[in-house]
Amino acid sequence: MRRSLVVGNWKMNGTQASAIKLASDILAGLNGADAEIAVCVPYVYLSDVGQLVKGTQLALGAQNVGDQESGAYTGEISATMLKDFDCKFAIVGHSERRAYYGDSNAMVAARFAQALAQGIKPILCVGETLQQREQDQTFQVIDEELDAVFDLAGVDAFSDAVIAYEPVWAIGTGMTASDQQAQEVHQYIRGRFADKNAALAENLQILYGGSVKPGNAKALFAMPDIDGGLIGGASLDADSFLQIYRAA
Ligand code: 13P
Repeated sequence: MRRSLVVGNWKMNGTQASAIKLASDILAGLNGADAEIAVCVPYVYLSDVGQLVKGTQLALGAQNVGDQESGAYTGEISATMLKDFDCKFAIVGHSERRAYYGDSNAMVAARFAQALAQGIKPILCVGETLQQREQDQTFQVIDEELDAVFDLAGVDAFSDAVIAYEPVWAIGTGMTASDQQAQEVHQYIRGRFADKNAALAENLQILYGGSVKPGNAKALFAMPDIDGGLIGGASLDADSFLQIYRAA
């Protein structure tokens, strides 16, 4: 049985004070439910939030990770550095990174490999734009995003990784993929793994992301191949995030 996982992606929001308050409020509302829960916080708040969540059910994650081990890469943060803060997860290949900062499939694969090498679970984001969906390219886009990582790290690397299907048109727009639309792609992704390693495919956590809210979480998470969510906007409010968590 796959465990459900709900991850908050705080993106570039908040202040030191609000980050501490949000993490504290989430912790106060946790009830020991079986599903996994994590928050991916801005790098500069990893220390503050990390101290709060230490020894609790709430896991810590980063929103990105350097594609190189160390060296002259101004502005980047290495997986080794994230390990210092006990990060369990690092998001790689978020569509905002791909669209605004030029993260290519090859670079995302390198980031993925760096996280894994330090025992940090990459959360690999994949997903199509509206235009790509309308041109029936959804599966092709996802294939390309997955294949780049298969080529560099191999399929078996995903036994320590998570996938998040985030249709770009559903992120921050209030337009959620329907339960069936999301399930169709999740099933496709799991199928890609099943062809290569059936046991791994069965255990792989595939999260859905894109305008998940307390009102739609339960139906999405009830789909057979949706194992939880990667939550943006709604994770900035402790009550909303906890309601979504309870839906998992
Ligand atoms: P929203 O939940 O705000 O649509 O963001 C989703 C997302 O990008 C999570 O990584």
